[in-house]
Amino acid sequence: MARRGIVKTVKPYPCLDGEITLPGDKSISHRAAIVNSLASGRAEITNFSPGDDCRSTVRCLRSLGVGIRRVVSVNSSTLVVSGGGKDGFREPGDILNAGNSGTTMRLLGGLLSSQSFLSVITGDASLRSRPMGRLIEPMRLMGAEIYGRGGDSFAPLVIRGKELHGIEFSLPIPSAQIKSAILLAGLFARGRTVLHQPVPSRDHTERLLKHMGVELESDGKLIFLSPLTRSLAPASFHIPGDVSSGAYFLVAGAVHPNARIILKDCGTNPTRTGIIEVLLAMGAKLNIENERMEAGEPLGDIVVESSELKGVEIGGEIIPRLIDEIPILVVAGCIARGKTVIRDASELRVKESDRIATVSRELSRMGARIEPLPDGMVIHGGNPLMGAEVASHGDHRLAMSLAIAGLLARGRTIIDHAQVAQVSYPSFWQDLQSLTG
Ligand code: S3P
Repeated sequence: MARRGIVKTVKPYPCLDGEITLPGDKSISHRAAIVNSLASGRAEITNFSPGDDCRSTVRCLRSLGVGIRRVVSVNSSTLVVSGGGKDGFREPGDILNAGNSGTTMRLLGGLLSSQSFLSVITGDASLRSRPMGRLIEPMRLMGAEIYGRGGDSFAPLVIRGKELHGIEFSLPIPSAQIKSAILLAGLFARGRTVLHQPVPSRDHTERLLKHMGVELESDGKLIFLSPLTRSLAPASFHIPGDVSSGAYFLVAGAVHPNARIILKDCGTNPTRTGIIEVLLAMGAKLNIENERMEAGEPLGDIVVESSELKGVEIGGEIIPRLIDEIPILVVAGCIARGKTVIRDASELRVKESDRIATVSRELSRMGARIEPLPDGMVIHGGNPLMGAEVASHGDHRLAMSLAIAGLLARGRTIIDHAQVAQVSYPSFWQDLQSLTG
């Protein structure tokens, strides 16, 4: 295999034991930075995600004139945002770059549609191949002037901000990014915005807006938002650990024959914990302790221990609540007894890589038996994994899932382009090492 980038080698260890403090939740971090930029005054956000994706959001907000300072030490990462109020953004002097981050592009795409200036936003090759028509369509219904490459399908996006009007809109796909883009645009629109969610997706935007005093009502499926009448007050808070980053260790702990892992201060928002429900259904020994709330978001300590897992069927309404965890759930399915079937997950095809194709291909190199489906995978579990040379395809979640597969396989696993983990979890490799003693 022709190698690109940094290579990591993973081998099995007799025991996994320890406590991990996860990086701040990526989804909440994006929203904390963006919404505080619209507030008037200074917010201090502790445990802000150190990953490249949230750096992209911060870089774009700075280009829009927001004063943002990062204070980074060995164990912490704090973001200090000095918001200029609801009319505080200024026209960027250059093209904005969202890097690899779909959340940056789509959330800011919504917001920029409502601002009275011109902006252009692009991203890396992966992001420029991901669908943007799903953003352009509702923005135009709100009155925005927004264009994309390939017949309004892809970034770069060109946005001439306009005065928008609220819409009543039924989300055709359960996308939290599109929902959030519409809500952020709706803050600046004339009249109320009403969203119907056929299947609920992560609700961090709703929780944060409510926490900061926005008039928003939601029952999970129906959301009513009133526009801003004045600038918001800033919100300083601590971001819970990212359950999507914790997922790698939840699976490692459950599947390894000699493991006990504690994830401290991990987010437990029910719109994100589909992975926990599935692992419990598979037979995992897993407990949540010390549950509490921080700025409208629940968090707790999760304890997971060696378990005997069995295959399950995963599909329907749970999919948006575990969409990012499917690559690591496939690893769990490979080790579990029996068959695991994943359906209704065609969104995997338009993530950082086509995850149905890349996850099936790379784990098959390690001896897994996986049949790709148009909207999921069938995993025939119980076959031992074998170390192999595998590739991340530039996809952070695939790189980390392959590392856990390598920990559970016989022999050495060599992962190419492994540095991509830093998109969401820069200290992943150190945290993995810390569990092996
Ligand atoms: C995210 C929403 C999801 C998820 C992504 C983060 C968010 O994407 O896959 O990693 O922070 O809103 P979609 O909204 O496209 O489903």
